[in-house]
Amino acid sequence: MQYCPAHGDPGLREKICEVMALEGIHAHPDDVVVTVGSQQALDLITRIFIDPGDVVLVEAPSYVGALGAFAAYQANVVHVPMDDDGLIPEALDEKVRSLAAAGQRVKFLYTVPNFHNPAGVTLALPRRRRILEICAAAGLLVVEDNPYGLLGFDGEPLRALRADDPEGVVYLGTFSKTFASGVRVGWAAAPPAVRDKLVLAAESAVLCHSSLAQLLVREYLYTQPWRDQVKIFRELYQQRRDAMLGALDAVMPGGCHWTRPAGGFYVWLQLPDGLDSKAMLPRAVSSRVAYVPGTGFYADGQGAEHMRLSYCFPEPDRIREGVRRLAGVIEAEIELRDTFGSGGTHGNVGVDTPGPEVA
Ligand SMILES: Cc1ncc(COP(=O)(O)O)c(C=O)c1O
Repeated sequence: MQYCPAHGDPGLREKICEVMALEGIHAHPDDVVVTVGSQQALDLITRIFIDPGDVVLVEAPSYVGALGAFAAYQANVVHVPMDDDGLIPEALDEKVRSLAAAGQRVKFLYTVPNFHNPAGVTLALPRRRRILEICAAAGLLVVEDNPYGLLGFDGEPLRALRADDPEGVVYLGTFSKTFASGVRVGWAAAPPAVRDKLVLAAESAVLCHSSLAQLLVREYLYTQPWRDQVKIFRELYQQRRDAMLGALDAVMPGGCHWTRPAGGFYVWLQLPDGLDSKAMLPRAVSSRVAYVPGTGFYADGQGAEHMRLSYCFPEPDRIREGVRRLAGVIEAEIELRDTFGSGGTHGNVGVDTPGPEVA
C-alpha cells in the first residue's frame, strides 16, 4: 500500500497488454499508463493537447463525458456525421480540409469506434483504414475510446484502430464495463512521446493511482477466469438488447427510428418530427420511465429530437415495461403536437402534467 509508479503497477500493465491483444494490439507494458477510469485519461489527453480555441473533431453525437472534458479546456468541438456504419470518412475528410482552409488548428479526432455511446453503432472495418489515412495525412492524432470493445454480441472482438497505427493512435481502455466501474481503473496506451507527457500529467494530478484499486484488478486478472466472465456479461447484455429491440419493434409509434446495436449498452432513438426529448422528459419521469435527452451528446445544441436508451441495468421484463411506458408518453406527445402544433410540446412542461416531483 505504498505509492506506486505514476505509470501504474507493472503487473497490471502487463495484464492490460493481454486484454488489448484480443483486439489485435501488440503493446509493451511501457506503452501503458494506468488512469482513474478512462475519464481521467480523457482529461489528461485534453490537458496536454488543447489550448483554448483548438479544434477537437468528434462524432455527432459524442460521449457526454468527453464533451465535458473538452469544454473544461475550452476546446472548439466540431461534430462529424455518422451513419449506421459509424463515422463517415468522406465527411471527416471534408471537415479536415475546410478547417485547414479556414486556418483552424485541429488537434485530434476523438472516436468511440465500437458500440458507440450514445449512438449504438460500430465503425465498419473498411472505414477504419480510411479514417487512419485521413488523419495521418492531416497530421491528426486519433484518440480511440473503447470501453465496450469486448462486449460485442456477434463473435470475436473487432480490430482496434491502434492495432494498425500505434504511432498515430492513443487508445483508451477501462475495466468499468467488464469488472466494476467503482474501482476506477482505466488506462491509456500511447506512442512514447505522448506517454511521457501523460505520466507527467498523471503525476501532477494524483501522484499515482490508488495502489489498492490496481492490486484488486491485477489480482482479478491473474487469478480469476476473466475471459469467461466477459462472456457471461456479453450473453446478459445480448438478452437485454434483444428485449429492448423486441419491445421497440412491438410498441413504438410510427415516425420513431432507432439503431440496432451489435454490442455495448445503448440504443439511440429518433422521435417523430416536432417532438423534443428534453421537454418531454418530465412527462416520462411522471410515467416512471427515464432516458437521456439527445442534446447532452452535442456541443452545439443539436439532438433535441433524439434520446439515449440504456439496456445495461434492468432485467428484460423491466426493459419491456419501460419501453411500453415510453411509447405511451411519445403517443401522448404526438397527440399534443397534432392538437397544438410542435411548439405545444416545447414549453409549459408540467402545466398539463400534475405532480411537483417532475418540476
Ligand atoms: C465512451 C465512454 N468513454 C469513457 C467512459 C468513462 O469510463 P470510466 O468509468 O472508465 O471513466 C464511458 C463511460 O460510460 C464511456 O461510455
